Amino acid sequence: MKVLGISGSLRQGSYNSAVLRVAQALAPEGMLIERAEIGDLPLYNEDLRARGFPPPVERLRRQMAEADALLFVTPEYNYSVPGVLKNAIDWASRPPNQPFDGKPVAVMGASTGNFGTARAQYHLRQMLISLNAHFVNRPEVMIAQANKKFDEAGNLTDEPTREIIRKLLAALQDWTRRLKAG
Ligand SMILES: Cc1cc2nc3c(=O)[nH]c(=O)nc-3n(C[C@H](O)[C@H](O)[C@H](O)COP(=O)(O)O)c2cc1C
Repeated sequence: MKVLGISGSLRQGSYNSAVLRVAQALAPEGMLIERAEIGDLPLYNEDLRARGFPPPVERLRRQMAEADALLFVTPEYNYSVPGVLKNAIDWASRPPNQPFDGKPVAVMGASTGNFGTARAQYHLRQMLISLNAHFVNRPEVMIAQANKKFDEAGNLTDEPTREIIRKLLAALQDWTRRLKAG
């Protein structure tokens, strides 16, 4: 099972990108999580789109289409997802063959605040409903006060957080199999 992991943060020391790396390491038997690059996508512009998808967009759309499932790991910016992530979704969502249609999707997120990206995650779910993605509902992985859950080397040391990530990945694997089986 191939899963495409997408971090909504571009910064080097990102907690969310670190959580995605942890997910890669904790993936259950039979699941491979690859990471998408969204930092080189141009800002969405319908004029660009009219000339064809730019190569980084083509790449992202192909990776999404080829993946059995998607895994978003998003920060919360001003109660929503960061613009870079929305931009990537906007590009990928354009016809033909938008890759979210019928796709199993899971989301998690880390913030330095107390709500662990809850508001951003619900916005993401709302966006992808219109594109007919099929979200894993539970567990919800909302990592609050992320700065207290990593050590100085950037390792996720909080065991309950590692455990809930494992549970989400197992749920995504199960959900993907169930959707494929029809
Ligand atoms: C523009 C901006 C807006 C932010 N808004 C929120 C917010 O609404 N809620 C929250 O919990 N944290 C917010 N934060 C703090 C982020 O949780 C924090 O910067 C976090 O480390 C970002 O994720 P990253 O480490 O993966 O880059 C905001 C940060 C920035 C830069």
